[in-house]
Amino acid sequence: MKTTLNMTLISAVAAIAALGSQAALAQTTMKPADATSLVDGLEGVFGKHDGFRRSGAKGVCAVGTFTGTKDGKTLSSSTAFSGKEVPVVVRFSVGGGNPKAPENAKTVRGMALQFDLPKGEQWLMANINTPVFSAASPDSFQAFLDARKPDPETKKPNPEKIAAATAANPDHKLQGAFLASRGVPASYGAQNYWGVHGFKFVNAKGKATTAKWVFEPVGGEEFLAEDKVAGTAPNFLPEELRTRLAAKPVEFNFKLMLAEAGDVTNNPTIPLPAERKSVIAGKLKIKSVEAEGSASCDGINFNPLVVPKGVEAGDDPMLVARAGSYAVSQGRRLTK
Ligand code: HEM
Repeated sequence: MKTTLNMTLISAVAAIAALGSQAALAQTTMKPADATSLVDGLEGVFGKHDGFRRSGAKGVCAVGTFTGTKDGKTLSSSTAFSGKEVPVVVRFSVGGGNPKAPENAKTVRGMALQFDLPKGEQWLMANINTPVFSAASPDSFQAFLDARKPDPETKKPNPEKIAAATAANPDHKLQGAFLASRGVPASYGAQNYWGVHGFKFVNAKGKATTAKWVFEPVGGEEFLAEDKVAGTAPNFLPEELRTRLAAKPVEFNFKLMLAEAGDVTNNPTIPLPAERKSVIAGKLKIKSVEAEGSASCDGINFNPLVVPKGVEAGDDPMLVARAGSYAVSQGRRLTK
C-alpha cells in the first residue's frame, strides 16, 4: 500500500504545535535538562543496554552517494552541492533505546547520514520519518522521558504521570498523532525523512537562506497493509532493503523548504507552512546495506551540529542538547 504525504494533516499538526509550544515554553521544570540528564532519561525509559546507542539503538549500516543540484549550489557554497558525487555513510534505525524493538510497529524510523566531503570535511545529520519531534524543547523532552519511566513496582509507565506531562506539554501529542495516522513503514527505503530543525544555507555571495529539509523517496512512501502487520517478522527491515537494493539503488530527493520572514525555525515541533517554496537541492542514492552486526557506522555519533562550510546551524536549542547528549551516549556505549 502506498500513500502520499497528507499536507492537510501536516498543516493541522503545525497549528496544534504552535499552541502546544507556547504552553510548553511557559511551563517550568524543576531543573533544566542537560546532556547527562537527557541520556539518563532515555536509559530510564528503555533500560541500559551496554554497547548500544541510547536512542536509535536498533539499526543497520548502509552506504550511498549524494549529488547536489544547481538549485542546491545557488543556495549554498558547500562542496556537497558542487554537482560531483560524494560518498555517504548511512545508518537506518528504529527510534528509542531498545536494541530489540519490533519493526512491525508504528514507531519512529531514522536515517542518519555522514557526507564525506572533499578535504576531509564532513556533514552529519540524523533524520526521522515524522515532520515533528516528540517534544518542542530540551526541558519538554526531559519531561516526556521522565513521565514514561517504568514504575519500579508495576514495571510499566504510570499513565497518570504521562497524562500530567502531556497536559503540561501539549507538544508531546504531535509526533504520536502523526505516527498513529499512518501505517507501519514497509521499508527503510520508502519513508520521508525530515531534519525537523532550521539550518542556514549560505551561498558564495554570503547570502543566507533558512530552510528545513526532508529526504523524499523517489518511488514514494510505502506502508504495510493492515492485515499483513501481525504476520510480518519483527526484524524484516534490513533484509527488505537488501532485496530492494538488489534490483536497483534506492533514491531520495533532498528537498529544502525555504523559510520566510516570521516563520518559526527554532522549534522541531513546528513545521514550516505547507505552502512555502521548496527546491530539490540534491539526490541521495543508497547502494548497499551491510550485514547486521557490521561495525562500519557503529563508531559514528551523528552529531547534527557537524555541518560543512556553506551550512550553518540555526538557533534551535534542541540542536545543542542533541550534540551534548549524543556525545554522552557515545561515551557510554563505547565503554559499556
Ligand atoms: C534533546 C533532544 C534529543 C536527545 C536528548 C536525543 C538523544 C539521542 C541519543 C542519545 C542518540 C544516540 C547517539 C549515539 O549514541 O550515537 C540519538 C540518536 C538519534 N536521534 Fe536523537 N535526540 C534528541 C533529538 C532528536 C531529534 C529532534 C531527532 C530528529 C531529527 C533525533 C533523531 C535521532 C536519530 C535518527 C538517531 C539515530 C542516529 C544513529 O543512527 O546513530 N533526535 N538521539
